[in-house]
Amino acid sequence: MNKASFLLDSQSARARPPLEIHVRLEARETSWEPAPGNTVAAWGYEGLVPGPTLVARVGDTLVAHLVNSLPEPTLIHWHGLRLPAGMDGTELGQSPVPPGGHFEYRFELNDAGTFWYHSHTNETVQIERGLYGALVVLGPDEPRFDADRLLVLDDVKLDGRGQIAKTALFDRHTGREGKVLVVNGRTEPELEIAAGHVELWRIVNACSARYVRLSIGGRPIRIVGSDGGRRNEALTVTEALITPGERLELAIGPFEDEGAELAIESLPYRRTAMKRPRLDTWGKLRVGPRARTLATAPAATATVWPLVPEGPLTPTRTVRLGARMTLHGHDWLINDRQHYHDAPVKVGELQIWELLNETGMDHPFHLHGFFFQVVAVNGVPVAVSEWKDTVNVVGKGRVTIAFRPDDRPGQWMYHCHILEHHAAGMMGHFEVVR
Ligand code: C2O
Ligand code: CU
Ligand code: CU
Repeated sequence: MNKASFLLDSQSARARPPLEIHVRLEARETSWEPAPGNTVAAWGYEGLVPGPTLVARVGDTLVAHLVNSLPEPTLIHWHGLRLPAGMDGTELGQSPVPPGGHFEYRFELNDAGTFWYHSHTNETVQIERGLYGALVVLGPDEPRFDADRLLVLDDVKLDGRGQIAKTALFDRHTGREGKVLVVNGRTEPELEIAAGHVELWRIVNACSARYVRLSIGGRPIRIVGSDGGRRNEALTVTEALITPGERLELAIGPFEDEGAELAIESLPYRRTAMKRPRLDTWGKLRVGPRARTLATAPAATATVWPLVPEGPLTPTRTVRLGARMTLHGHDWLINDRQHYHDAPVKVGELQIWELLNETGMDHPFHLHGFFFQVVAVNGVPVAVSEWKDTVNVVGKGRVTIAFRPDDRPGQWMYHCHILEHHAAGMMGHFEVVR
């Protein structure tokens, strides 16, 4: 185990007027040591895996200067951010930045929460090699925790020479999972929390395909936020599922048993019949000597109002997640097509989309640019208390989401966030029109 802190400096950004934050993100070849003694050839922003952690506050303007020093084109997508279509960082809104080229992303940060940025070009290679990082946006009146930590989870698949493996045909079907589990780019971190303390842990699942059913030694933990910031009320659980692309904000502690060692692990989860679910260990949390807590009530302060009135739901659109066998294995489909061209939606018009999974495998559905609410699962209404941009749709299951596009016309997309499924066609695009 390697001692780690993963502390986020969230205090200094909190007490200052809004700023323009300039960052340079050079995508380049680098070397990365995910496990002690095992150095791999990787690609990283500023040579780091994960890339620099960006901390800002609501009202700031982020100016990110992408410099492409890779041997192939690239783009940066700002996952979860409500920004103009031209800044979303996909090939729908800009042309890929060629080797030697650069691009300036500039947009205002409107929402507090835990976000991430990643390559949106040749993702099964570029993200796997390390082109991802976190962006944390602080709100004006956040509850106080004894510590604010960021944990970006990733799994790395190595080949026989200890280098990042090429994508296999099998990966196209089930999605690529690797045996080397890293938190902020390193294996087996050991964290310490003082007895009596309550900490905020921001979790990002940056894995290509791995579902993380997170448990902290089976202790009760509280979910205080999700993709789109704070929940209406904290939800106490002993485990939390985080699918690829999703984020969770957790209140951890207080633990009273000084000296206890808790495993940070993911419990077995069956997302496909093709993979045997197993328990995996990501790291360790040790309960240290007792300290006085300064944490204020971790209960969230957000107010998320349901978009859809109670009563029968009439979807405005159905999005079917499907698959088809071909000579080269599986194609992954939306409404029977690869890269489905969906109908436009109008600014201000309530969208109620039924996501219908026709396959036997789970898919984490991600919508770019707009937060949505999950309003029903398998036709059964659910109480709304959070904003999402990624939601799991279980095999043969049905999830109904609602969102109201605000005035950001342009081309947007949605897709399965299992990177190999996205690449094999499970994506759709649509225009937001005035
Ligand atoms: Cu993290 Cu197109 O998404
Ligand atoms: Cu995204
Ligand atoms: Cu999928």
